Amino acid sequence: MKKSLLLLLVFAYAVSSKAQIDNSPIVGVGNAVNPYNYTIVKAKQFKNASVTCAHPLASMVGAEVMKRGGNAFDAAIATQLVLAVVYPEAGNIGGGGFMVARTTLGKTISIDYRETAPNKATRDMYLDKDGNVIPKLSLQGHLASGVPGTVAGLFETFKYARKPFKFLIQPAIDLAEFGFIISESEAKGLNNTRESFIKNSTGPSAYIKETPWQAGDTLVNKDLAETLKRIRDYGQRGFYEGKTALLIVEEMKQGGGIISLDDLKNYKAKSRTPLEFKYKGYSIIGMPPPSSGGIIIEQMMKMIEKRNIARYPFQSPQQVQLMVEVERRAYADRAEHLGDPDFWKVPLKTLGDDAYLAKRMADYDSTKATASKDIKAGKIHESDQTTHLSVLDKESNMVSVTTTLNGGYGSRTVIGGAGFIMNNEMDDFSSKPGTPNMFGAIGGAANAIQPNKRMLSSMSPTLVLKDKKPYIVAGTPGGTTIPTSVFQTLVNLLEYNMSAEDAVNKPKFHHQWLPDQVDVEPTFTSTTKTAMEAMGYKFANRAQLGRTEVIRILPSGKRETVADSRGDDSVSGY
Ligand code: GLY
Repeated sequence: MKKSLLLLLVFAYAVSSKAQIDNSPIVGVGNAVNPYNYTIVKAKQFKNASVTCAHPLASMVGAEVMKRGGNAFDAAIATQLVLAVVYPEAGNIGGGGFMVARTTLGKTISIDYRETAPNKATRDMYLDKDGNVIPKLSLQGHLASGVPGTVAGLFETFKYARKPFKFLIQPAIDLAEFGFIISESEAKGLNNTRESFIKNSTGPSAYIKETPWQAGDTLVNKDLAETLKRIRDYGQRGFYEGKTALLIVEEMKQGGGIISLDDLKNYKAKSRTPLEFKYKGYSIIGMPPPSSGGIIIEQMMKMIEKRNIARYPFQSPQQVQLMVEVERRAYADRAEHLGDPDFWKVPLKTLGDDAYLAKRMADYDSTKATASKDIKAGKIHESDQTTHLSVLDKESNMVSVTTTLNGGYGSRTVIGGAGFIMNNEMDDFSSKPGTPNMFGAIGGAANAIQPNKRMLSSMSPTLVLKDKKPYIVAGTPGGTTIPTSVFQTLVNLLEYNMSAEDAVNKPKFHHQWLPDQVDVEPTFTSTTKTAMEAMGYKFANRAQLGRTEVIRILPSGKRETVADSRGDDSVSGY
């Protein structure tokens, strides 16, 4: 009996240590992830660990990394790198992002790898001689890019990982080198962006071909594979120095951009103190500035906390009106007070203070719309093409990452010879503080352009603990609609006790103070719309709001994992 127990233990150890050291290729025909044959899975419960993100190949690689002994940090690194290859619309190494995480030992972490304004950037760089905003200059082409932060962020995350970096990056290299089958939406995206890629890049790239892309085509990007190999072989310096840096600067010089070798060499990801607050029995952990996401969500949650929102039927006029009014007030504060905390004193404590928030709601009237003109501050435009991944491992390490190029396919500048797309994140600054920009939006001095400053973001990677234990990992793309999508998802889960699938997929609405209108998805209830119109609200249609990715731990311990139905998003786990 004793002997068989010993044998069993030896066998179990052998199996588990094999899992720890099995670093054989993940991607390829006959391997765990076949890039030429994969399917989308929208929702599933997993016993051990899971990933949900914008592309099935990326979530499959992340899950396989955890199966092979990696933790949630390993998986988040591998997943992001694969997204940079298979989801060029928003996955990136030429952009930036934020990570919020909690280790199994209870340590909370947030990593800021937001892009920075190049050293040569100036406050008025997007204005003509008469002081007017030059259309598209901050949106397309070489001048639109901030200094990319993603690669530095991945190496900051790597401090918490377990597997070799070489193993984590190899799936992305293989996908870039040998290709993968693209989906219909990717084909459409690449075709729609073709002319813009040609106009804003100085040379050819894998994203441009003579005939239109079709679903089922194979996308191979050898230049990107070589860039990823330099990162594999030389670490962070393989991107910020040496050949890759030279290629970036050469592309900038040829196209009139201003990012320099020093800008790249000096870029640093920053560990920040995560923003944490209580909501009823839950602890919510979010991203602090330079994201506005964490504090806006804190404000909105606290403004509804004492109002027993669940007494109103789901998406009844009363529920939606209350949420719209707290959104209006939080976004007015955002425009006035939020910017890069290394350049602007952000009054975080006051903004989240209960007494302050009670005062903000003092003029709330449950029978009619508050007019935005009666609430002070300005509005900031942000594009909505971003991407989110949620990861939870066997030991309940929780990792929530939102990363972006800003607009779909960023600035449309592909770095010649390096194969990756640059961000157009400079547009997230206020091009002209105090004056409506080209989108009719107003930005504040807090978010004016300054060299080396990080532009304000809305990205809101979020974690929830229940009774101090891991409960939810969530987040979404969507520019300024990110905090309101996360807010609704949390309200759906915590107040309306929905399944994660319902919480993610129910129609969404959004109000951001200015313009003074409620944006709604096409399936939003018309009864509520009509009732609220009678109270003075204006509505506008939005094709979709967010692509939210949620993992929740059920009482059974299973990981309820959901990918938003709004895209090719897909879950994977084991
Ligand atoms: N570019 C979108 C955001 O940072 O919020």
